Amino acid sequence: MGIEQVLPFTEKLHPSVKKLFEERQKSLANPEEYWDEKARALIWFKYWDRVLDDSNPPFYRWFVGGVTNITVNTLDRWVKTEVRNRVAYYWEGEPGDRRVLSYQDLYREVNKFAKVLRGLGVGPGDRVVIYMPMIPELPVAMLAAARIGAIHSVVFSGFSPNALADRIVDAKPKILVTADGYYRRGKIINLKSKADKGLEIAEKMGVKVGKVVVVERGGVSVDYDFVEGRDLYYSELVSKTPDNTYVEPEPRRSEDILFILYTSGTTGKPKGIMHSVGGYMVWVYWSFKWTWDPRPDDVMWTMADIGWITGHTYIVYGPLLHGITSVMYEGAPDYPEPDRPWEIVERYRVTIFYTSPTAVRLLRRYGEEWVKKHDLSSLRLIGSVGEPINPDVWKWYHDVVGGGKTPVIDTWWQTETGAAMIAPAPGIALVPLKPGSATYPLPGVDADVVDEEGRPVKPGVKGYLVIKKPWPGMLLGIWGDPERYVKTYWEKYSRPDEGVWVYYPADYAIRDEDGYLWLLGRADEVLNVAGHRVSTAEIEHAIVAHPAVAEAAVIGVPDPVKGEVPLAVVVLREGYEPSRELEQEIRSYVSEVYTPIAAPSRVLFVRKLPKTRSGKIMRRLIRAVVTGATLGDVSTLEDEASVDEIVSAWAEFGRELGDAA
Ligand code: PRX
Repeated sequence: MGIEQVLPFTEKLHPSVKKLFEERQKSLANPEEYWDEKARALIWFKYWDRVLDDSNPPFYRWFVGGVTNITVNTLDRWVKTEVRNRVAYYWEGEPGDRRVLSYQDLYREVNKFAKVLRGLGVGPGDRVVIYMPMIPELPVAMLAAARIGAIHSVVFSGFSPNALADRIVDAKPKILVTADGYYRRGKIINLKSKADKGLEIAEKMGVKVGKVVVVERGGVSVDYDFVEGRDLYYSELVSKTPDNTYVEPEPRRSEDILFILYTSGTTGKPKGIMHSVGGYMVWVYWSFKWTWDPRPDDVMWTMADIGWITGHTYIVYGPLLHGITSVMYEGAPDYPEPDRPWEIVERYRVTIFYTSPTAVRLLRRYGEEWVKKHDLSSLRLIGSVGEPINPDVWKWYHDVVGGGKTPVIDTWWQTETGAAMIAPAPGIALVPLKPGSATYPLPGVDADVVDEEGRPVKPGVKGYLVIKKPWPGMLLGIWGDPERYVKTYWEKYSRPDEGVWVYYPADYAIRDEDGYLWLLGRADEVLNVAGHRVSTAEIEHAIVAHPAVAEAAVIGVPDPVKGEVPLAVVVLREGYEPSRELEQEIRSYVSEVYTPIAAPSRVLFVRKLPKTRSGKIMRRLIRAVVTGATLGDVSTLEDEASVDEIVSAWAEFGRELGDAA
């Protein structure tokens, strides 16, 4: 296959672009050969018999027959060398308390906790749900689970007890690891009580968790019930385990599950995305190497929470697979002052800083004086992830944070893809950057932009992003729901009869004349609020559970900082009247039963939702009213008065805004 068959343009290629294309062409022309060589950069107990088993698409399996354990590659590998003395984590709590863990320290802690988990009866394939704040024991717990072959499933600590319960019921863990509490914007959050409530709800739903390990955050004092026989203190368990404990890493098949991470889909039920032991490891290793070009003295700070995929891959597995140092920070980015991130960058001489456009927009709002107070000259690369980055925000990031000389690495990927898929690759060759574009797909990624029928669109035309070949970091599937896996990701564009399988990420994209990709956000009913995926269906479920609510429809509306925020249109039950108090109550209710991220920015009260004659809510029409767009085709609308209702509720809101100003 010639380069022109992989990419449509061949003339006047920039030398870096050419170099990148050549590598990518090599990877796509003969994937099995390519990955066979690449995967040998990692340590395996046994090499694979087959690089890619594609006999049962779309259930692709990578490095089949291969046996390994990711903790050998993230820990044992390094403690056998001088890297053992290198810092693995500089940890900083929100109040300013600090801890430093070397690779040797991390290795010791992981072995000890692995022993503890085993002692509690956790074995290969068992699930360990981890509901923890950003403290070092979180990566320790994940790695300890991985060491003994258990499957970790981290639940973001900002999630409500209900959300925790849903995940527990789905994953059926043997054990829950949690913490007493943590700091957020100067307040102490009582996590253990939330965990208890989640466990109680899960039990009512038929899933009882036998053991709960509680890490004491230190410095936080919160009241909670300690359930005898079920609850155990981490510190007690670990202190009874000798420091020189060595736990034999459990041999894992490449296609075994390393972790489950839940993400929102278009229905109310979150999807348990499963990642594999071998494929995920190989993909994370190489994707990381290409995008960050890691060097031994790097200090990487991914300002994200480990409760999301970004933290899994760029705070835990990626940096550790490369033996580099990471910063881990517990709290809010603008606490106690808006220069907290820059102070941290300066203190630890951070070389790679990676965060979401929402965080950049938030920090930009405070003004550049806060950035200028600090010496950020250590920065070598600054990254962006999770949502489209507006060109003006990109420029501010580049000029003010990056001092006009630090490349912005805008990485497009998803929970499902394991690690970055479309991003500049300084580890191969840094292509000329365009503000707002994630540039080109990485090697191994056969991306295209197509129309509704699956035909490639012309440059400059908006279409749907697709991935036309399997890649090692791809999800294994959805926990307990193989049908949903096929339906969600493969049905739209695959042609099974012809043996054609195409992955559909549900994102809009444009490819420009130079082949650069511009990722434009979700093409389904999933919102991207502050870089976090939340489904309209889950928010609607939460709202409808409120006693005053009969029906609800949620859409995303643009927001200058968070990118997008939910707006709810609500029909009340008989006997309830619309009021500002009730609006506030519904917002708090969503925070409580789901997560504060999903709380609607506004609630509009109407008597009827716009629906099709078959009863489907026409969110498109609500969006049109709110954004001032044309209504488009309304022929399927059951009752036109329902649109007028929204128009007047929205106008009412406009008047209120006017009054407030
Ligand atoms: O819409 C895309 C957006 O975030 C979605 C994935 O969300 P999640 O699984 O939570 O993972 C976030 C961290 C990888 C995608 O479907 N997205 C992610 N990165 C970008 C992006 N949109 C535009 N540009 C990006 N760089």
